[in-house]
Amino acid sequence: MEFSIKASTPEKLKTDCLILVRCADGEAGPQFGAVDAASGGLLAKLVRRDLDAKAGSILLLPTLPGAAAERVLVVSLGARADLSPKALRSALNAAGKAVSASKAQSAALGAADFVAAGFSLPDTLRSAAALIADAAYRFDAIRSEAAKNPAGPGRFEFLLQGKSDAAARLAVEQGAAIAAGQALARDLGNLPANYCTPTTLAETARSLASEYKLKLRIFDREGIDELGMGSFLSVAQGTREEPRFIVLEYKGGKAKEAPVVLVGKGVTFDSGGISLKPGEGMDEMKFDMCGAASVLGTFRTVAKLGLPINLVGLIPATENLPSGTAVKPGDVVTSLSGQTIEILNTDAEGRLILCDALTYAERFKPACVIDIATLTGACIIALGHQVSGLMANDEALAAELLGAGTKTGDRAWQLPLFDEYQEQLKSNFADMANIGGRPAGSITAAAFLSRFTRNYAWAHLDIAGTAWKSGAEKGATGRPVPLLTEFLLQRAGQ
Ligand code: BES
Ligand code: MN
Ligand code: ZN
Repeated sequence: MEFSIKASTPEKLKTDCLILVRCADGEAGPQFGAVDAASGGLLAKLVRRDLDAKAGSILLLPTLPGAAAERVLVVSLGARADLSPKALRSALNAAGKAVSASKAQSAALGAADFVAAGFSLPDTLRSAAALIADAAYRFDAIRSEAAKNPAGPGRFEFLLQGKSDAAARLAVEQGAAIAAGQALARDLGNLPANYCTPTTLAETARSLASEYKLKLRIFDREGIDELGMGSFLSVAQGTREEPRFIVLEYKGGKAKEAPVVLVGKGVTFDSGGISLKPGEGMDEMKFDMCGAASVLGTFRTVAKLGLPINLVGLIPATENLPSGTAVKPGDVVTSLSGQTIEILNTDAEGRLILCDALTYAERFKPACVIDIATLTGACIIALGHQVSGLMANDEALAAELLGAGTKTGDRAWQLPLFDEYQEQLKSNFADMANIGGRPAGSITAAAFLSRFTRNYAWAHLDIAGTAWKSGAEKGATGRPVPLLTEFLLQRAGQ
């Protein structure tokens, strides 16, 4: 989708679909008013009659006398007293969904009326570009030509009243870049495990590296062994699919500036291994690399925008399969940190690959490290599909991430990481066990990881409930790319 900014009178604009917003009460904005006047009051009358008050309700008019646009789509911002970033997002989301479901090939949004309603123009434009592009996302990569979904509008204009300034243009660029990052994360997540292997993730990192001149190192099975990542390797030993350890570096900040390190779980298929999962719904374990996908997506956004920060991405990628060579319950492995781990359940594999990547992260002397992982089913029990779980050894970092989640609507909720939980990881045979029993499963998983993150500020995002949707809308969401990119934009002072 191509975005542009235009100063034009909305009633005279030629477009396939003109989108206007309206609060449920009070005076209409100037753009709505202008189109209403051109229609001789018909627009306001139809809206009064047929548009629900609730934020995100829509009314699609197939034609409107007096307006040059082919169609007019009116979206409710809800009651004036309830205006909020959430109402803004519902309206934009609904507009994006409706316009991409229509046959319109071009569309335009009256952005000035958001400002009249009290929203800042940059906030409106950034959210609008991100949400409208995301609503137009389709996953057709592995459908034959005839079965592909119709594409949404290719051109999208933001209508301002006056001339656009640099801040407005930057906001649109940021929104589009966030959506591009999210789309990459969704594409990788949606690809099945026979298409998206650890090698595919590495090749994706390679194409990002060549497009944006990033530093890249990729380790294969032998390389991972030479690094001393015995824990990571134990997960990979059950599959013939080659594992990869991906190290991606973006240098947009000062040479000596400490980087933010993102670590993404890249299990391209999680069968559970010898501790085999039940069959029902196992297809969804192709999404077990969504943490890795969110890291690659975030790199795409950051590199596109050329943010003045340093960023490192670490992705341990492997399948988790049962076989004659697979790791067995009771096996003890030695992690890169030197700590030994008794693997009581081979299905708790995410922490086994992450712990070695977290130890590797130390060599970058990071400003902070954030790992992103579809780590525990228990997180879905605790928090559902609405918010990601957040655990951290640094309260300031946790607060920053929670804030970025609230700002974007890609929210997280913090769970405690008290020392008391460590007791559940006791092993009779090694330094620790890889599971802590049923109680507080998400927390004991984080408690396990915390034993490898003692030397830096660290936060862990458990995205088991948020990275994808099940059911009729089955598919990757691209979360938490919005949260992560907002966090990095703020660190970059933008
Ligand atoms: N990838 C799963 C977690 C998961 C399960 C995410 C379902 C989303 C939906 C992870 O590797 C796993 O299997 N975790 C186990 C841990 C347990 C064995 C301690 C779990 O959650 O059951
Ligand atoms: Mn598992
Ligand atoms: Zn897993």
